[in-house]
Amino acid sequence: MAHKLRVGALASGGGTNLQTIVDNCASGKLDAEVVVVISDVECGALERARKAGIPAEHIDRRDKQRYPTREAFDRAVLDCLRSHDVALVCLAGYLRIMTPELVDAFAGRMMNIHPALLPAFGGHGMVGHHVHQAVLDYGCKLSGCTVHFVWLETDGGPIILQRPVPVEEDDTPDTLAARILPHEHALFSEAIQLFAQGRLRIEGRRVRILPPAPR
Ligand code: GRF
Repeated sequence: MAHKLRVGALASGGGTNLQTIVDNCASGKLDAEVVVVISDVECGALERARKAGIPAEHIDRRDKQRYPTREAFDRAVLDCLRSHDVALVCLAGYLRIMTPELVDAFAGRMMNIHPALLPAFGGHGMVGHHVHQAVLDYGCKLSGCTVHFVWLETDGGPIILQRPVPVEEDDTPDTLAARILPHEHALFSEAIQLFAQGRLRIEGRRVRILPPAPR
């Protein structure tokens, strides 16, 4: 059997992005397997991992005895990722800002999904409902989603793929989020598969998508 990309997922929410990745691995659509799911809170994503028989690690951010600092917390995350021999980290709705040590350890090997077209509506505080509210408040006619490599600057790393989604006249943050979400699911898997195939090359801020290797 061909070598599969070992994916570690970090998530803090319901985990629908994670679920799609897990399902696409199981169906063979992705040349990858999710080998660990880590969360800073007990959440739907961990539940989904357990159901799928994937190691689910709750590294409790409120446990100040064990993790008195952000650095200590992220070191535990890093140890966990390394112990599972993770080759690609996918941030699937992970809500914690990470330390340089963790980001650097997976430079060029960590992806995030963002529910807007970066570089607009990204950065600190631009999560979940706030993103879509800001898009509507600005009066945008178009939103969408972005998969990007993770750099230290929040939502600032090189863009891998983007997909536009129109804003409708009567949209609320909830309806816009719901229309974008299926596109996130599709886009994240596309990006993971490109990575698994070795077709992503980072050149400065740009990500080159290389043609498929000849068979
Ligand atoms: C998604 O909109 C993702 O873009 C954002 O958080 C949401 C997570 O949804 N970062 P889920 O947990 O994958 O269902």
